[in-house]
Amino acid sequence: MYRKTLSAILAIGMVLAPGAAVYAESSNPSPHEIAKIEFDNVIKKQISADNMYQTITELSKEPRAAGTDGELKAVQYIANKFISLGYDTRIQPFPIYDTKVNHVYVKVEDSDASEKPRPFTDSVSKKVTAPLAYVGKANPKEIGNVQGKIVLIERGDLTYVEKLKNVIDKGAVGAIMFNNTSPGNNFGQVGEGQNIPAVAISKEEGLKLVEKLQNKVIEATIDINQEKIEKTSYNVIASLKPKQENDTNQIVTIGSHHDSVPGGAGANDDASGVSAVLELARIYAKTPIDTEVRFITFGSEERGLVGSSYYAASLPKDEVKRMVSHFQMDMIGGREAGPDKPFGGLIMYTIDGKKNLVTDLAATSAAKLRSEVIPYGQLGRSDHQPFHDLGIPSALFIHSPVEPSYHKPTDTIDKISKDKLQQVAEIVGTSVYQITRLDTPALPNTKVAEDLVEYPFENRPVD
Ligand code: BES
Ligand code: ZN
Repeated sequence: MYRKTLSAILAIGMVLAPGAAVYAESSNPSPHEIAKIEFDNVIKKQISADNMYQTITELSKEPRAAGTDGELKAVQYIANKFISLGYDTRIQPFPIYDTKVNHVYVKVEDSDASEKPRPFTDSVSKKVTAPLAYVGKANPKEIGNVQGKIVLIERGDLTYVEKLKNVIDKGAVGAIMFNNTSPGNNFGQVGEGQNIPAVAISKEEGLKLVEKLQNKVIEATIDINQEKIEKTSYNVIASLKPKQENDTNQIVTIGSHHDSVPGGAGANDDASGVSAVLELARIYAKTPIDTEVRFITFGSEERGLVGSSYYAASLPKDEVKRMVSHFQMDMIGGREAGPDKPFGGLIMYTIDGKKNLVTDLAATSAAKLRSEVIPYGQLGRSDHQPFHDLGIPSALFIHSPVEPSYHKPTDTIDKISKDKLQQVAEIVGTSVYQITRLDTPALPNTKVAEDLVEYPFENRPVD
């Protein structure tokens, strides 16, 4: 197996790009090689924003929240597309957990202390009755003797996990936390391991209790009955392998997430990314390659990158070693995103805020294809994170700042710009092509690329 070097890729593939002379000089491409450098158009000219728009129209007909029928329908739609294109296609199921609350109440001196208390230790079902003690914001210094007591905590300053830890350390047997803003009590969640009954109540309800506690000891009861419900979410993975005689043994992945937030159509977040994945898969199905290309749509991204983390954890070590870059497209069609920014606000975010092979290739493709300078910045919040954590050069392609309809029911097809879809699909598709085309040699797995075009770091807030 021979290895591609980035400079070799860029020297052949990008010889006409601005700033490429340095590379051209060192590798001396022959006239024959230069003649082949119609390369940009190989992918670009085949991309159809109409196809992508059509995919988003289909996918955004109903919400695709993880674990729902909407997700399953989307998964089948995507998998069928891959299969009909001839891909080796795998649907990877994984479990996700919801909590069903059967009942929950908080009583103080025998009357309900909250209209709608919300449990925030999701694995606890228990009834406790004990004296109530106010501990402010649950700073260790504020907490007196709470052994065997239920504590009343104000939201703020510390994380929920820290607050609970502080009171559990001192022997508290239950916790009531009240909001520090109005209205409502929709806050607070802690994971496994902090196993006392704990509920969130509103600011008004909390302040009433503080008042009551001023001159006497009162007794409180928390009663929670809830159950964990397992559901199934899915990743869809489609692979295209090169002919054996061409195989560099390396793998490039192109990802998006197919789930939406509950109740949202998720046209831009992230049916747009899925549409580009499917469109590039359509084109790559007919393109000769020397590197395996994997097209993936993840489930449960909106629950905390659950699908991509599951996928990353399921990869055999030797496969991880062969993975040379991950391109993540999330929210790539928002017409109202990135207002006042050049090129529709397209930016490449990496986890560590550093350039890498992905950003170098994409910045160069953008310069060459469209005379655009795409900046890079630092951000997680999408499925490039687990790939980065495995040491794979990765970036998120997104228009930033995000549009006003982000995570709202108004994230619908009418807000999608075909021009933006086309732009990102071209740039990502062409970047991937520089790695996979037959006339570039293999990449060193570990090498972070030298810059070819100049592109700036930008500390751009996303929302
Ligand atoms: N598409 C967004 C990611 C995003 C949103 C990036 C806004 C940049 C700006 C993604 O689907 C999302 O909403 N992610 C969550 C985090 C995730 C770990 C649950 C978020 O950003 O709140
Ligand atoms: Zn998203």
